[in-house]
Amino acid sequence: MGGGSSGRRRRRHGDLLPADDLAGVHDEERGCTLAETVAAVLRAHAEHERRRRVIAADADVDDASRARERVVERDREPVRVQPDVDAGLDDARVGREQPRSALVVVRVERMAPGTHDVRGRCRRLCRAHRRGDEHGSHDREPSHHPRNIVCRVDFEATAEQREIQALARDFARQEIEPHAAEWDRDHAFPRPLFAKLAELGLMGTCIPEEYGGAGADFLSYILVLEELSRADAGVGVTVAVHTSAVSLPILAFGTDEQRSRFVPPLARGEHLGAFALTEPGSGSDAAALRTRADEDGEGWRISGAKQWVTNARFSGTFLVFARTDPETPGAAGISAFVLDADHVRITRDEEKLGLNSSTTNDLVIEGALAGRDRLLHDEGKGFHVAMSTLDGGRIGIAAQAVGIAQAAYDVARVYAKERYAFGRPIAQHQAIRFKLADMATEIDAARLLVHRAAALKDRGEPVTEAGAKAKLFASEVARRQTGEAIQILGGYGYTKEFPVERFYRDAKITEIYEGTSEIQRLVIARSILGLQQHAAA
Ligand code: CAA
Repeated sequence: MGGGSSGRRRRRHGDLLPADDLAGVHDEERGCTLAETVAAVLRAHAEHERRRRVIAADADVDDASRARERVVERDREPVRVQPDVDAGLDDARVGREQPRSALVVVRVERMAPGTHDVRGRCRRLCRAHRRGDEHGSHDREPSHHPRNIVCRVDFEATAEQREIQALARDFARQEIEPHAAEWDRDHAFPRPLFAKLAELGLMGTCIPEEYGGAGADFLSYILVLEELSRADAGVGVTVAVHTSAVSLPILAFGTDEQRSRFVPPLARGEHLGAFALTEPGSGSDAAALRTRADEDGEGWRISGAKQWVTNARFSGTFLVFARTDPETPGAAGISAFVLDADHVRITRDEEKLGLNSSTTNDLVIEGALAGRDRLLHDEGKGFHVAMSTLDGGRIGIAAQAVGIAQAAYDVARVYAKERYAFGRPIAQHQAIRFKLADMATEIDAARLLVHRAAALKDRGEPVTEAGAKAKLFASEVARRQTGEAIQILGGYGYTKEFPVERFYRDAKITEIYEGTSEIQRLVIARSILGLQQHAAA
């Protein structure tokens, strides 16, 4: 970018640039003018990103690939500077105006701290990649919730994320897919499978190593959920509830003692986790729950009935929501407790339309005594725990929906190329081509929403709106496109000879649990209208 262009842009954006934006900027030939302009252009388009990470600019590099990674000091901490051509913003236009001296905009991220113990295959992968540290770690500094949640997304998964995804895919192909039809038919919960997943580290993919997990990021966990659900959505939901709805909230809201006591057995797969919020009289209106926790000596005596609790029959750790203040109706009187299997009694196994390899139970709690050490977060803050847990959990269910839709598309695509009608493969008929094109497009779009929500969560930003959008869209894609897969297979699709009828049955629940599509729309509408904002857990 030449001086003329610089000057023009400086006049346009200069007032947006505080001096401290220039930290890390390196531009020997032209002083700070060029770098300042670039930083200003970026800042104008990515205000919230500026708060999260340092943006620096380098000049006089004709080709992005020639920009060398370097380490600079900022706030006395070493930060790695990576070349990153920021396409799509003004700077790309700037580059076109003066192609002989193209800009290289660099992103600065904190380097990954510390080293970690090795446990399980997934953990080893994480460690190997941290040692290489090709991509730097995510900066987890919290930032304000932007009104508009459009954010820059790196479409390239890191090498670590790709390897964890491949690990989950290989496992799913070998250990899950061949048995999924049988588990579905027999309504069999594959308990031993979860020990194998635990050996790989996949029962605690995104749990830090110090708590027995693999130490990967949330997006890696989301990729795992998609792969598991692609093979068997029942396995997907079991891992999703166990991780998103039990391990992660204990990690987020627990005391040090609670984290060390409850999380490692979950992350190592020794216990399954269950999330007990819903009751016969409170589903979408979760704040109407009636389970009571009455003060009793040094703790509470808990009594009540819970319904539709995923994993309950095989769980060792339950996150239970109960009313500690019977006088206060609604959300404010609710508290969260971590209970063990011997605090609850399973009363029923639900018979469902699909997800037959997962277990869904009713349970009762009959005056179980819970000490103060089992209260999660503050008294009266249980509803916040529940809502914040569901914010993240919904991203997992959205990933499950993408996995189911992808599985249906895979079968339909192969079938369409092999099945002949009217003298040619049905994939050569426009009616089928259009269906496949719509399927592929919608699945891609759903996946992008899911990955964006996961990326926001990895950055420590609020995900209420992004998670709800991802779940709303992905679940409706899954329901619609599994139906289209049946349509492509015709009569065969309606039989047990092909798995698409299972995918269709499994997909429906993603529009219902962890908040119906109607609740997701309500959550999204409140957020876009500025009626409710929440800090990230
Ligand atoms: N994060 C943190 N806090 C939140 C929050 C969030 N996302 N959403 C609301 N809150 C807080 C509010 O700030 C408010 O706190 P203050 O009073 O201190 O300000 C409090 O919670 C009450 O909020 P609302 O007034 O918005 O509550 P509401 O009664 O109107 O309910 C709702 C809101 C969105 C409808 C909520 O009830 C909801 O999400 N319902 C769906 C429940 C659900 O998803 N259930 C699934 C259960 S799990 C499952 O499916 C089974 C399984 O195992 C898979």
